[in-house]
Amino acid sequence: MKALLESLQPGERDWDLAQAIDPARLPAHIAIIMDGNGRWAGRRRLPRVAGHKAGIGPVRSTVETCARLGVKVLTLYAFSVENWKRPRAEVETLWRLLRYYLKQELPDLQKNDIRLQAIGRLDALPTQVRRELDAAVDATAANRGLLVNLAINYGGRAEIVDAVNAILEMAQLDGSIGSLKLDEDLIATNLYTASCPDPDLLIRTSGEMRISNFLLWQIAYSELYVTETLWPDFTRTDLLEAVLEYQKRDRRYGGLSAPVNGDAQATDETFVVALRSS
Ligand code: FPP
Repeated sequence: MKALLESLQPGERDWDLAQAIDPARLPAHIAIIMDGNGRWAGRRRLPRVAGHKAGIGPVRSTVETCARLGVKVLTLYAFSVENWKRPRAEVETLWRLLRYYLKQELPDLQKNDIRLQAIGRLDALPTQVRRELDAAVDATAANRGLLVNLAINYGGRAEIVDAVNAILEMAQLDGSIGSLKLDEDLIATNLYTASCPDPDLLIRTSGEMRISNFLLWQIAYSELYVTETLWPDFTRTDLLEAVLEYQKRDRRYGGLSAPVNGDAQATDETFVVALRSS
């Protein structure tokens, strides 16, 4: 948080937004569905890939802002298991952009103590992409600042299937398959995100009200924030506004919020009185 304020000028809009954020109630984990690249390009009569290219800048600025804010984990949906259905040229451009991003950003990630992790069915990636991704993950493995999860060839259902299969395989190997009983902890600790807290805040750009198979298990109690802004236009201001909106939410996890008007003290007697007078 301090790092963010130090990078801003008093009087700037983002300075005011940053000042309004309560550092004690930051989301530990922010997940983002980066959507709207194609529409951004279409509105400018540009090919769709121009939208993906323009999406690199907001990735860079979002990573930087999360690190400066003191967010612990940022998960970005970069390529879904369904994205293979897109034209081959578009898919290839996405791989090229990912390789470009890794090469360009690695020095900054190192300088800012940011750790990179990739989540998804990575075995299906083109060999060179996989190699460069693994190298970037290895190079940043000892960093202890922000953790950036890049979701690549990722699907929420596929992740749950992979977790259950990993559990079955393990139980078969250690001979416990006969008495195996699944529970939430066992599944959670076998997800790709096992080492991360669940997302507190899930942001989706471009106004679509869908989850699109993203982190299905982990977002059970995440706060959702949908903005009309298309991903290539997503700025630090948009991110700070999302965090401020998150801080206004009353997270109840299925329970009750703090008592209002003495609700918590309501007794059978007050309930009967209320019924009589209604
Ligand atoms: C969704 O927009 C976006 C994607 C499928 C790809 C996201 C990729 C980037 C932001 C660029 C590079 C990312 C990294 C991590 C280096 P869409 O194409 O579905 O947009 P549309 O709904 O308007 O067609």
